[in-house]
Amino acid sequence: MKQSTGMANRLVSGQQAEETFSFKKIPATFARLPRVLYLVWSTNRGLTIALGLLNLLQGVTPAFSISITALVIDRVVQAIRFQTPSLIWWPVGLQVGIMLVSSLLSTCSGLVQQILQEQVSNRVQLEILKKASTLDLAFFENPESYDKMRQATNQSLYQPTVLIAQTFGLGQALITLTSLLFLLLHLAWWLALIALLVPLPAFFFNTSYGWRGYQLVRRQSPERRLMNYFTTLLTTDIYHKEIKLFNLSDLFITRFWKLATRLYQQDKQLALCRALTSFGWSNFSTLANGGIYLYVALQAVLGRVTLGGLTLYTQMATQVGQNVQHILASISSTYENTLYVNLLFEFLAAQPQIISPAASQLFELPEHTPESAIEFRNVSFTYPGKNPETEGALRQVSFTIKAGEAVALVGSNGAGKTTLVKLLTRLYEPDEGEILIDGRKIQEYNLETLRQRIGVIFQDYVTYYLTARENIGVGRVEEIESRELVMKAAHKSGASAVIEKLPQGYETTLGRWFKSIQESTQLSGGEWQKIALARAFMRDAPILILDEPTSSLDARAEYEVFQQFRTLTAQKTTLFISHRFSTVRQADRIVVLENGRIVENGTHEELLAVGGHYAELFHLQAEAYR
Ligand SMILES: Nc1ncnc2c1ncn2[C@@H]1O[C@H](COP(=O)(O)OP(=O)(O)O)[C@@H](O)[C@H]1O
Ligand SMILES: [Mg+2]
Repeated sequence: MKQSTGMANRLVSGQQAEETFSFKKIPATFARLPRVLYLVWSTNRGLTIALGLLNLLQGVTPAFSISITALVIDRVVQAIRFQTPSLIWWPVGLQVGIMLVSSLLSTCSGLVQQILQEQVSNRVQLEILKKASTLDLAFFENPESYDKMRQATNQSLYQPTVLIAQTFGLGQALITLTSLLFLLLHLAWWLALIALLVPLPAFFFNTSYGWRGYQLVRRQSPERRLMNYFTTLLTTDIYHKEIKLFNLSDLFITRFWKLATRLYQQDKQLALCRALTSFGWSNFSTLANGGIYLYVALQAVLGRVTLGGLTLYTQMATQVGQNVQHILASISSTYENTLYVNLLFEFLAAQPQIISPAASQLFELPEHTPESAIEFRNVSFTYPGKNPETEGALRQVSFTIKAGEAVALVGSNGAGKTTLVKLLTRLYEPDEGEILIDGRKIQEYNLETLRQRIGVIFQDYVTYYLTARENIGVGRVEEIESRELVMKAAHKSGASAVIEKLPQGYETTLGRWFKSIQESTQLSGGEWQKIALARAFMRDAPILILDEPTSSLDARAEYEVFQQFRTLTAQKTTLFISHRFSTVRQADRIVVLENGRIVENGTHEELLAVGGHYAELFHLQAEAYR
């Protein structure tokens, strides 16, 4: 619930300055079109070629069809005059033939397009997932980049596929137009010109409305996310209890509805303006076409053109007009879509800052070194957007953990303990200072091997809605199938007792989202924590980092875990964070962190003798238990 105020703040900061629309921007936006086409092409070449050919054929059919219609009419007139019905047989046959071909073509191209779109959509989703998995934690924690990612993922499912449809449709319309114009030029060049010019104003207005729509969507994005957040709060099992008991539903529903109403008003206004303008301009085209129609009809009355000619002229003019309109409309909506697709490409172009060194500088860790030493040298770190002077999360932190040593990190909430773990695991890069493992800077290690060497459980560990076995197995994913290793790890953390009571034992699905009520179960906070702890033991890494690993365990469970603490951490370099002094005192050494600085460092006895911060906290807790 803390997040909601955070989100509200982001609303203010997340608002982009309104950029104004100018036609100069159109070409730049279309620059992305080849990339979309390439995406389609590389997804399935065969289908892309097929779709292109089908569209080409569809493009030329209207010209044929109109010419044949004119022919049929003239033949009918002749047939009436000469009383020879046979004159109309083959033109009518041809007409039917072309109708059949055209319907076949449109069925095929619809099918091909649907299949291709689905493939592209899947592929785009795959690329988004892959990209997201490489990006830095900071990217996710920054509201602006997070927003961009959300927009990219929301729009990307259908925008590229819409673009495909439009681009090919555009190609088809262009072919139709060219073939029609070719015919029309032979008949009357000025008709061609009028038909070409009439739809232009509508195009300009449409494009600028497309731009405004896009701006609106971007501007509304933080609010839409907030709405989604309220939806999540109200429809997710884990939030339900608190929301019900604090009676928060009305609060959130009201906030949701306020946002929804406001956004609806904005959308409605834009849609209304757009519809009215477009209606106005389409009337303009209708009038122009009516003029042409009247003119040609008069020519027919005066006997200057045949009846077939009348049909030919008028259909041609209407079709040219419609096609130009169609083309311009697709250009402006393609333009609108490329704006969204740009977001996707922008997201796909995002690069993580925290990466493995180039192969040449890579320092490979030996496969099985049992122990590792850790050293922090003058490490300072401030979260992005915060003031290093006053809000630094870590300042000039220096300490060492010898290989095989178990060190406890103690400090009040917000002291910087978790931050320290994030730096050690390279989720963030320190602003100053160095972190070394076995005498080498952690930046010199391959990122993957570095993380493989660290078994970590965070304070806010993940509860995977998978089976119990998988929940522990993900600690060492290549052994996820190994029941034996999983059971060993579960035994160490006390999770085994929990799991054995489950209906399907290790194969029971945890969490209630995906399986029936008989086949799944929900665990208590402490039970989940035992599972998460087992995950860290499953890792079998030389470095073990536990961030408040037993905060939800009952006294006995915690006692049991730490009874065997020595055996569990034997031959491992261990850093653990805890507020329980019964646990903390078992460490070889204790490091006390306050306001991002290390204030004390020594054994339990030493620190008690000093009578400083640690001693104070220890006595406070002892007092409470007396
Ligand atoms: N992602 C973040 N962005 C900005 N500030 C953060 C972030 N995470 C933690 N902080 C701030 O950094 C400080 C240290 O946090 P943390 O290391 O989580 O404390 P703790 O010692 O309780 O684990 C706190 O003041 C906290 O508000
Ligand atoms: Mg913490």
